[in-house]
Amino acid sequence: MQSQYKLRGSSASAIAADVEEAIRDGRLAPGTQLPTVRAVAAELGLSPTTVSAAYRTLRNRGFVSAHGRRGTQVSRRPPLTAGAFPVVPPGLRDLAYGNPDPALLPSLGAAFKRVSRGPRLYGEAKNHPELLRLAAAQLAADKIPTDSLAVFGGALDAIERVLQAWLRPGDRVAVEDPGYASIFDLLGALGLVPEPVGVDECGARPKEVERALGAGARAIILTPRAQNPTGAAFDRERVRALAGALAPSPDVLVIEDDHAGPVAGAPALTLSAVRTRWAVVRSVSKSLGPDLRLAITAGDPTTIARVEGRQHLGAGWVSHVLQGLVAALWADPATEKKLETAQRTYARRRDALVRALAERGLTAYGATGMNVWIPVPEEARAVNAMAAAGFAVRAGEPHRLRSPPAVRVTIATLRSKDAGRVADVLGAAFAPASLTAPA
Ligand SMILES: Cc1ncc(COP(=O)(O)O)c(C=O)c1O
Repeated sequence: MQSQYKLRGSSASAIAADVEEAIRDGRLAPGTQLPTVRAVAAELGLSPTTVSAAYRTLRNRGFVSAHGRRGTQVSRRPPLTAGAFPVVPPGLRDLAYGNPDPALLPSLGAAFKRVSRGPRLYGEAKNHPELLRLAAAQLAADKIPTDSLAVFGGALDAIERVLQAWLRPGDRVAVEDPGYASIFDLLGALGLVPEPVGVDECGARPKEVERALGAGARAIILTPRAQNPTGAAFDRERVRALAGALAPSPDVLVIEDDHAGPVAGAPALTLSAVRTRWAVVRSVSKSLGPDLRLAITAGDPTTIARVEGRQHLGAGWVSHVLQGLVAALWADPATEKKLETAQRTYARRRDALVRALAERGLTAYGATGMNVWIPVPEEARAVNAMAAAGFAVRAGEPHRLRSPPAVRVTIATLRSKDAGRVADVLGAAFAPASLTAPA
């Protein structure tokens, strides 16, 4: 979308302020193409250096992003207002959001009763000792070093803090493609540049990691299991191969986003133990509920000292009401049973959809996690066909950098009869002619 908006200003800071205001009040929509530096310079009678400086400021703040020869565009989710999440149209079954099934989350009622009621004040221990003890036991069982642990407000909060501990605007970060759209948006907001790494059933492809490192990536964000959107999960061979690909770059920061934790449907494998700068982020959002806003982060001592030190100066700590709730849930044997059931149920729902699609001639991916990723030639056609049948699904576009089109279906609440209906709709729209032709 080419901008009809005429940029204004007689200095770099004035142009940047003008564009920021136009994005904020909606005159420049997300995705809008900005005119070239040369065109703006000519229009405003300024030097290209001045306009370039304005664009750099906007980029570093994540309001716009540069796309090589395609020029500069307003970011998809510029960090200016609490951008509304895409709304599921009324009347449609929500298979779009990536939420867990509320019926599979442990009830908070009993846990609330066990949270300490006493007031807590400034100057007390930041982290809940029982939470740390339980987290360390879980992580150690997965061979993740636990010497340095921190508690943050969810996986994305932790990832942002870890990135900021080491990187500066303009730095490149290797990310999975397709990948988690919010990670792409977060990188943009921090002025960081994504370096796409292709994904197969076992996660990031080692050869593409090598290429991204060659292109100057200073950090990499990997999803060890429940990769969003493809459901990929590491196996041991992939962990070895990724460790090998990263070995010549010991200073590269490795972040593992274990957002689904115990309900992912695969063991927690990690390459953190062989790295110098690393963080494993384990969120409780998918297993205990997104509103707990809590992620445990293990990392090397320098990384954890930096992020905790910075947290101390700002938010301070994660409320002990939340930390105590998570500790109480983890300490309850009923939670383990509930998580086991959730993991099995998600696996059944994923398999049902992948199988139903295969029966109609469509290949889909969803070995672990909450989503099934279905390559299609035309995303809009798939989304519209699904909407006409009463289902909201997510176009793949926000999850893609260079990878080909697809749609994402969240299976968290998808019963098997609905899996058949979803597959019927997509099958009718896209199945290979040989399978749909009458016998
Ligand atoms: C890959 C991935 N990382 C992180 C998150 C967000 O986790 P949190 O709620 O802990 O920030 C999600 C949520 O869907 C996700 O899919």
